[in-house]
Amino acid sequence: MVSKLENSCWNALLLLKKQLRLWEEPVRFCFIQFGAKEQIRINSHLEPASDCITALLVLDKTWSGNNYDIPFFAFNGIIELEEHQADSIPEDIRSWIKLYAPYCFLSVISKEMGRTIVVSHFAQTLDGRIATVTGDSKWIGNKSNRIHAHRMRALSDGVLIGTGTMKRDNPKLTVRHVDGPTPIRIILGSSSCNLNSLLDASYSPIWILTDSNFESNKGVEVIEFKSENGYIPTLEIIKHLHDRDIKSVYIEGGTMTTSQFLRENNIDILQLHFSPMILGSGYQSFILPEVKKISDSVHFKSQTFIDVGDSIMFVGEVEKQV
Ligand SMILES: NC(=O)c1ccc[n+]([C@@H]2O[C@H](COP(=O)([O-])OP(=O)(O)OC[C@H]3O[C@@H](n4cnc5c(N)ncnc54)[C@H](OP(=O)(O)O)[C@@H]3O)[C@@H](O)[C@H]2O)c1
Repeated sequence: MVSKLENSCWNALLLLKKQLRLWEEPVRFCFIQFGAKEQIRINSHLEPASDCITALLVLDKTWSGNNYDIPFFAFNGIIELEEHQADSIPEDIRSWIKLYAPYCFLSVISKEMGRTIVVSHFAQTLDGRIATVTGDSKWIGNKSNRIHAHRMRALSDGVLIGTGTMKRDNPKLTVRHVDGPTPIRIILGSSSCNLNSLLDASYSPIWILTDSNFESNKGVEVIEFKSENGYIPTLEIIKHLHDRDIKSVYIEGGTMTTSQFLRENNIDILQLHFSPMILGSGYQSFILPEVKKISDSVHFKSQTFIDVGDSIMFVGEVEKQV
């Protein structure tokens, strides 16, 4: 059960994402206030109120001190937030800020880097499987994980899956478990698939990224790409998304789609929810070229493990291969 304060915290985070998305100037710091009334200030002071919790989020590494004497969180990389003087904020709210506030800033990071930021998520078993051999994946993740995925969709401009997942799962790709906007829903691939589950669930746009003459439906935009050996280079996809003002995209699988993005160095942040089960067969989370040495594996610049209901989620910023 989400408390009133947690609800207010979520609303403040949605407001933060919305305001940062519209902000044109460089961002140095932001005030976030939740409790009686959610408020956000970017690069300027916000007077703390007695019936609210106020926190400061600091991006600017040259920032030299907290003259306001209120709790603050300082960015270290894209997803890591270090706590400072934050003991006065209830622990569950601190966890919320540390888990979700970084994703509110992805539009800012995207502007700095000049490209769309890619976050990828899987719910997987302890032996790294995301579905059984028949493709059954409902539900490897627990309810908290599904709510988490909906929160992430609400904080992203787009959500992307491959046609394999579309055909097997008939997802809606909405945010029905939480408040917030449904992102643009993006399907990657060329084989025809039934899109009724998407069309019936929401009016949010649907894009098909394909290398063939995909049969167009009303309410669906078909975007054609050149492919190489049947695959659209993922860099071309990201460039297109950036040109269309998609600052952040949440990739929700399956194996082939996510692996292609990872193989081509185009995932920034990976979220892996570990469920306490072992399949011993089925769809692997990733299929990548063989490596001979451990040092050649995918590494992370920063990582953290977070409790999600009765299981844990790994969140890591991928160390890009040069
Ligand atoms: N546990 C979880 O978190 C989770 C999440 C998602 C999915 N799943 C499971 O994963 C399974 C599906 O995985 P999957 O690997 O078979 O399917 P998938 O990755 O969803 O879809 C694969 C298809 O996507 C298209 N595709 C992917 N990358 C492409 C690229 N770069 N260029 C062009 N097309 C591209 C191709 O479509 P065409 O062949 O149409 O060209 C490819 O056949 C399902 O069982 C689903 O339930 C589990």
